[in-house]
Amino acid sequence: MSERVLITGGAGFIGSHLADELLAHGYAVSALDNLSPQVHGPAAQRPPYLDDRVELHVGDVRDPAAVRAAVTGAERIVHLAAAVGVGQSMYRIREYTDVNNLGTAVLLEALAARRVKKLVVASSMSVYGEGRYRARDGSLYDYAQRSAEALGGGSWEPTRGGEPLEAVATPEHKQPAASSVYALSKHDQERLCLLAGKAYGFPSVALRFFNTYGPRQAPSNPYTGVLALFAARLLNDRPPTVFEDGNQKRDFVSVHDVARACRLALECDDADGEVVNVGSGQASTVHDVARRLARLLGKPEISPEVTGKHRTGDIRHCFADITRARQLLGYSPSVNLDAGLRELAAWLRGQRPVDLSEQAREELDSRGLMS
Ligand code: NAD
Ligand code: UD1
Repeated sequence: MSERVLITGGAGFIGSHLADELLAHGYAVSALDNLSPQVHGPAAQRPPYLDDRVELHVGDVRDPAAVRAAVTGAERIVHLAAAVGVGQSMYRIREYTDVNNLGTAVLLEALAARRVKKLVVASSMSVYGEGRYRARDGSLYDYAQRSAEALGGGSWEPTRGGEPLEAVATPEHKQPAASSVYALSKHDQERLCLLAGKAYGFPSVALRFFNTYGPRQAPSNPYTGVLALFAARLLNDRPPTVFEDGNQKRDFVSVHDVARACRLALECDDADGEVVNVGSGQASTVHDVARRLARLLGKPEISPEVTGKHRTGDIRHCFADITRARQLLGYSPSVNLDAGLRELAAWLRGQRPVDLSEQAREELDSRGLMS
């Protein structure tokens, strides 16, 4: 009989792709998901993209009885259930802490009672805060921050003593410096899982995903990742709204590569007890991806609108050093940004997203979280 993997948050964007990856490799798959209306819409129904073979437990990861029922029979667990919006986390502090921290605690209490073969938890590049930088004299600098004054004056690039800095790839040993409630909760999730795994003797691995994109990233959810938001704007013939000057760099990684990294972490033991970056290893600016997506959606005439505004909690640059993932997991990214954006655009052409991004920005504005 095939081994069963439980994916918490398994009806979501990354979870559903992971389910496909695991089914294709002979696993039986269960999911525990509360079908959160912000992600799945008000009807909160099983999403049509979720493979029929996935045994879906509709329930909340904070509910001990639901979690106990879902983990029964699962030998390996991937913990993805979380509230995921960086901006939104800055005013729905209780909800983010509740779902992410308490949800993880409930899961771990269930696992303490029945040792599993492996726990993989989704962490995030956001735990780093700013990524790693190099100063003019060649030294590496891991403590970059941006002051409110600098941001208020439109100085977007972090500096050291007034000297410019150059962003370089960020390795796992960079000191975490969470700059949002979401990021702090992701750091807690990874520490909790590694700590409990050690205490109770089940191997656990924390994967720090970078900015994941691809089909199924709910474009009508105004609190989701930037590429889905840009798609919702473009498909409604509106310009993507770019914060700061658009030159902030991120590591956009295809959801297929992230799903494969999760499977590799479930299967190999070399990364047990470790945190591992999962990215593409390439940096792109937000402005560039906005323009590329417009072209691919057949709307090259729509130029991104650069707002010159800063979203509280956002960092300037961070992209992954993926040496550890290559060494420990045997991971290497297989989808480059061109191919990944083309796949995303092809999927988006069949979607009719509602663009709710203005409402989401007003929520931040009205609380002084967009300046
Ligand atoms: P998603 O919102 O598509 O998926 C999350 C799923 O969790 C949803 O199906 C939602 O219904 C479910 N969920 C939310 N609250 C729940 C609760 N209380 N109980 C049970 N289920 C609940 O998001 P995603 O992009 O697939 O993210 C999956 C994981 O990866 C999250 O832990 C996120 O923090 C992490 N991550 C995502 C990215 C990214 O760029 N998408 C990057 C880094 C880390
Ligand atoms: C995203 C994920 C987070 C994950 C992290 C890891 C979501 C909602 N957030 O956060 O779960 O842990 O990646 O890499 O999926 N931007 C704009 N215009 C917009 C929206 C965003 O210019 O309309 C900019 C932001 O200012 C930021 C960049 O795009 O500079 C990326 O933003 P976003 O997609 O929200 O990603 P992260 O905050 O990195």
